Amino acid sequence: MRVSVVGTGYVGLVTGACLAEAGHAVVCVDASPERVAMVNAGQAPFHEPGLPEMLAGVKLTATLDLADAVQNSDLTLIAVGTPFDGSQIDLSYVETVAAQIGGALKDKDGYHVVVVKSTVVPGTTEKVVLPLLEKHSGKQAGADFGVGMNPEFLSEGTAVHDARFPDRVVIGGIDARTLGALAALYSSWQDTPVLMTGVAAAEMMKYVSNAFQATLISFSNEMANLASTIGGVDIVDVERGLHASGLLKDAPVTSFLKAGCGFGGSCFPKDLAALASFGKTQGVPMALTESVLDINRAQPLKLVSLLGNVTGKRVAVLGLAFKPGTDDIRESPAFPVIAALKERGADIVAFDPVARVDTVTMAETLESALDGADAIVLVTSWPQFAEVPTLVANRVPQPLVADGRRFWDPGSFTHYRAIGLS
Ligand code: UGA
Repeated sequence: MRVSVVGTGYVGLVTGACLAEAGHAVVCVDASPERVAMVNAGQAPFHEPGLPEMLAGVKLTATLDLADAVQNSDLTLIAVGTPFDGSQIDLSYVETVAAQIGGALKDKDGYHVVVVKSTVVPGTTEKVVLPLLEKHSGKQAGADFGVGMNPEFLSEGTAVHDARFPDRVVIGGIDARTLGALAALYSSWQDTPVLMTGVAAAEMMKYVSNAFQATLISFSNEMANLASTIGGVDIVDVERGLHASGLLKDAPVTSFLKAGCGFGGSCFPKDLAALASFGKTQGVPMALTESVLDINRAQPLKLVSLLGNVTGKRVAVLGLAFKPGTDDIRESPAFPVIAALKERGADIVAFDPVARVDTVTMAETLESALDGADAIVLVTSWPQFAEVPTLVANRVPQPLVADGRRFWDPGSFTHYRAIGLS
């Protein structure tokens, strides 16, 4: 199939490359000349493990010319950003692109399918995208073109693997012809369950999936905070009981039951905020979703409070990325941690193997970050931080360590404190 993908972010580019690998003729569209040039040169415009190798192995072209890409393809995936504007989801990129695709369809002969891959609140595809396509093409959805929704479940850092081996593919369509085109797009994924559904249900599945995972994280954090007040209780130990239960044994969701300093990234915080705001516009109180966000906002401060008085102390903050394996710092708990440490008068030095910022003193190496540190705070569980116990083993006096990811063994340091450990 000839496929055009609009947006070369994590979702668009990884999906595009994966579909090209599956044998489709894929062209990626982006408004940034730099991104287009990089993709055409086979380079990844952002850090994602395995993506450069994947791009090197596929035939993928990129263009600034959306109309040309749409007119010379059979199906278009919309994979542009849907940020949260502070009170609700910002659909302006999706709207602009839908209008442009509509304009391109005006001059295209033959049937075409337009599919929303961006995360959008339920109703957006049918109530916002479809009317824009009809308006700008002068054509009729259902008769002249199909409209579908195909949410993306890949995670940053493992995006290439997730796209190659999805645990499920969700496709929603306004009619059987659209669903047929989407089923054909994913026909190479023989062993993957393909869930066919309505467009709004597909949109909602994405939110429900992210809200569920984020809820498990905040649940774990609330229980961890309680455990830490009891004396002689470690949340890691307590959760062993949960993991061994019939309820959760072998379930993949257990990877979201790890207590820590909270979730970040470009998805969970914005998607839960958009979901809560959407619920309210529907007249539904979203108390649980809002509590998940409240607990998450407070969690970085729990980590800082483990250090006690830090005035004038040198504190090494380990990790800026919102999780290991990525240079993405969006909504990372590292920033509320750093802000709280600054407010308490700490002398901060940060280290991340990949991510960089200029708002805090950055150490070039892990060793130099640890050098002279009175305290160490772990925000991101990069595998390289496993060396820290060895690196500070002979230090006198021993630093105070606050582990925000339950990454180290509690016996690895003389002064060890952690989320969920009393
Ligand atoms: C998340 C979802 O996991 C994907 O299924 C989804 O497709 C994606 O959002 C999206 O909407 O595009 P991602 O944001 O890349 O993926 O990262 P996760 O691995 O889910 O981690 C999110 C945050 O939760 C990180 O800050 C991580 O440190 C934190 N986390 C994760 C915890 O605090 N505890 C856990 O047990 C698991």
